Amino acid sequence: MDNAFWHQRFILQSLWTKPLRNHLYKKLNLHAHSKILELGSGTGALLCENLAISPLTFGIDFDHARTIFAKQNFPNSLLTTANAYHLPFPAGSFDLSFCHYLLLWIDNPVDVLNEMRRVTRSGGTVIAFAEPDYHARIDTPQIFQEIAFLQNESLQNQGVRLDTGRRLMQYFIHAGFGDVSMGMLSGEWNSKQTTEFELEWEIIAHDLQKVLPTEKVNELKLKAFESYARGGAISFIPTFYAWASVE
Ligand SMILES: C[S@@+](CC[C@H](N)C(=O)[O-])C[C@H]1O[C@@H](n2cnc3c(N)ncnc32)[C@H](O)[C@@H]1O
Repeated sequence: MDNAFWHQRFILQSLWTKPLRNHLYKKLNLHAHSKILELGSGTGALLCENLAISPLTFGIDFDHARTIFAKQNFPNSLLTTANAYHLPFPAGSFDLSFCHYLLLWIDNPVDVLNEMRRVTRSGGTVIAFAEPDYHARIDTPQIFQEIAFLQNESLQNQGVRLDTGRRLMQYFIHAGFGDVSMGMLSGEWNSKQTTEFELEWEIIAHDLQKVLPTEKVNELKLKAFESYARGGAISFIPTFYAWASVE
């Protein structure tokens, strides 16, 4: 799967968290001179929105090809290939530093949150917008549970910490933040939805192919689709957010 595919996927994910960003950004009074940093900015799904707030929109990602892809799409953004553990910025550089579906991929999230705290000015804000808890997922009916189990196994093999969501507040506290707020994104389902299956399945297939032969993945897809078409299928992965001010 190339970066164009992942970009579409990341745009979709960014829509799930848009109401939360609208809410928090309003609270923070961000303006045209605000300096904003995204860690793990990927293909740049959130850059356009941040550039609309301020031209001082920075992003770092350790995947160089993704950074180039993002820079081509959003030439005005200030992007660097860098590791979130060692940010190439002086202390207190930003009004807001945030991440979006990043910490689940990080072995030591406390160290990364410490870096975010370091590069954010006193009175500024650090936000983790979306960290899933795959151990707490709800998948029904039965075939979706079987698929969820295999997907979790694959994600774990790929380096994901499956219970990042529930640990988010602990991570912030261990990184030295005083007053931490945390919440969970909600879900909503419509019995008439028919278009989402293929879209979601592309990601599931990408994960399952790492633990199963292709014929088995196709077999599961068929069973899942039959079940989905009967209605009432749910896959819900509780996804948490947290934010704190820098003292
Ligand atoms: C799931 S993607 C999310 C991308 C983007 N935040 C978004 O929501 O569209 C996670 C990104 O984090 C990056 N990443 C993972 N570990 C990193 C690290 N240690 N330093 C910098 N980037 C990292 C990956 O390369 C990937 O692009």
